[in-house]
Amino acid sequence: MATSDSGGLSGNIAILTAPNSQMTLVDLPRPSGQSLDNCTNSNYKNFNVLNTDLNLQVSFDDKVITGTVTFELQTIKECDTIILDTSYLFVRSVSVDQQPVDYKLCARKPIYGSPLEISHKCQGKVSVSVEFSTTEKSTSIQFIRGDTGPYLFSQSEMIHARSFFPCFDTPAIKSTYTIQVESPHNVLMSARPIATEGDVYKFKQPVPIPSYLVAIASGNIVSEPIGPRSKVFSETPNIADCKWEFENDMEIFLKVAESLTFAYEWETFDVLVLPMSFPYGGMENPNITFATPTLICKDRSQVKVIAHELAHSWAGNLVTNCSWEHFWLNEGWCVYLERRILGGVASLKAKMDGRQDYLEYGEKSRHFDAILGFGDLKESVNNINPEFTSLVWDLNNKDPDDAFSKVPYEKGFFFLFYLETILGGPKEFDEFIPHYFKTFRYKSLDSFEFIDELYRFFEPRGKKEILDSIDFKKWLFGKGMPEEPKFDRTLVVEVEELVEKWLDFFKSGKDDFSQFSINDIETFEFNQHLLFLDKLCAELESINPSSQLIMKLPEVYPYYTKTGNFELIASFNTILIKYGNLTETDKVVVNFADWLGTVGRMKYVRPGFKLLSTKVSNEFAITTYKKYESLYHPICKSLVEKDIGLV
Ligand code: BES
Ligand code: ZN
Repeated sequence: MATSDSGGLSGNIAILTAPNSQMTLVDLPRPSGQSLDNCTNSNYKNFNVLNTDLNLQVSFDDKVITGTVTFELQTIKECDTIILDTSYLFVRSVSVDQQPVDYKLCARKPIYGSPLEISHKCQGKVSVSVEFSTTEKSTSIQFIRGDTGPYLFSQSEMIHARSFFPCFDTPAIKSTYTIQVESPHNVLMSARPIATEGDVYKFKQPVPIPSYLVAIASGNIVSEPIGPRSKVFSETPNIADCKWEFENDMEIFLKVAESLTFAYEWETFDVLVLPMSFPYGGMENPNITFATPTLICKDRSQVKVIAHELAHSWAGNLVTNCSWEHFWLNEGWCVYLERRILGGVASLKAKMDGRQDYLEYGEKSRHFDAILGFGDLKESVNNINPEFTSLVWDLNNKDPDDAFSKVPYEKGFFFLFYLETILGGPKEFDEFIPHYFKTFRYKSLDSFEFIDELYRFFEPRGKKEILDSIDFKKWLFGKGMPEEPKFDRTLVVEVEELVEKWLDFFKSGKDDFSQFSINDIETFEFNQHLLFLDKLCAELESINPSSQLIMKLPEVYPYYTKTGNFELIASFNTILIKYGNLTETDKVVVNFADWLGTVGRMKYVRPGFKLLSTKVSNEFAITTYKKYESLYHPICKSLVEKDIGLV
């Protein structure tokens, strides 16, 4: 069984026995302690958690959550202390089996917070309760003003759950939950609502989940249906737009996802659209995906983020990485499923449009997404610390937020895409998908167990030689870019030709724009715009185009200056500011800086400030940041501050 303890391997060994397996795999170096979660202070290996009960009270006046968390533990290894993770929490009292016990909230350690050591001789079943409060320093909990009143939300992945409530803050530990929250405003939790009595909201989460998936939101939140098992939530003024954005695709996504895996196990899939300061595109909190309001762009072009968060219902939420060092297992698998879902939906839509080639069309469109992904991967590999360009990370004494980039998403996707191809194509791989998610559901695993399962599944199907030919060591531990796969480029040629035309133009240095017009891009679909802008931006790097010519782009394609789509605003302005040789008084820069004050999604905020810092001036980036800092989420603040050299 895959558990938190994935085998007692340590040391730099040349021959890897995959954890819990009978098989010996080839020459995979395993950095010491890989199977242990380095990012928790807790002694989680000693326990199974049978259930967790959360009883919370929200005070908007004091901006704190006060509560009691109770763990029903089953001791696996007898010990004298229970060590929980906390970070910027206040601990009021601790009891074991209803009796007060001695405890020590230890001094804060760098990155991982303050261990809470509870004295108790642990054997068999143990019930531990901790009374606690959050503090204003919490990195998970944000009290803000929403559009219509006070608002509270949490964001705990990867290691911020410990600043929400004391816990075994590791993805290796999963538990069912019972939850009760008292709040003057509507409450949503990553669980199924079971009753509301006045200000008290009750929930249960019958599927075991890790701490990072426990989420809360409270505020003036209303809802509308977006499918037979789905609702969207937001504050009242935005609810109609939110409904429109998602209602066309929600149930189709669910159906296609189920056809790739197996029946959706969480009963409902709802989406909460948060205020602007939400730092991510989406967060897969079970039963209530959290989403950035930048998805509500009135053109349905960002529904792919919902497909992604839905895919986490299998990849990540049912089957979870056992430590953040194997984060690619969550995100790489999720992107793989996301692209299969979107390809499936493209195919269904083509069929409804009466296209004979609808199946091929779905595949072509999946390849289009993969081509965009390969570009994103290049960009990330060039910008992130090289040690985090491998699939498996070493996070010992490191902050996992610093390791975050597109690498686990895209390199993880390309690893799976490679496996799919080499093992015979999507059809052959299709049987493995439900097998993998069924085998590991409710569990947490590492990369070695994944490879082991590949062998277990494909060897009896006559594919051992193929598996033996794969350089797993390079895939898991190699740095930098993987080899570029052979893509079906049918749907991108048009875009690539336009990029080439522009590159030739910039190379020539002549200023004859007559060969270009708005017609070039008029029939583009959203993804084509994105590919055009991102590819042009990447390819211009080696050309060093004239800044005067670059600054003519808005006149040629005014569409890109008028759009309200956040993706296009970000990509277009990046080209102008990167190559336009602009100063802080230029209108483009002023507008872009103002725009940065209206978004909280890190995907835009972090590269935006880096761009200002490197292409305008570091001082200007800092003054702009200082102006808007109070609008950003603490996680976002701490990363931008590192990015622009404030800390
Ligand atoms: N689980 C992630 C968000 C996350 C990752 C939060 C790591 C904290 C730490 C979520 O599923 C995600 O990947 N969101 C993406 C969406 C995109 C890939 C479609 C995002 O936020 O941009
Ligand atoms: Zn994700």
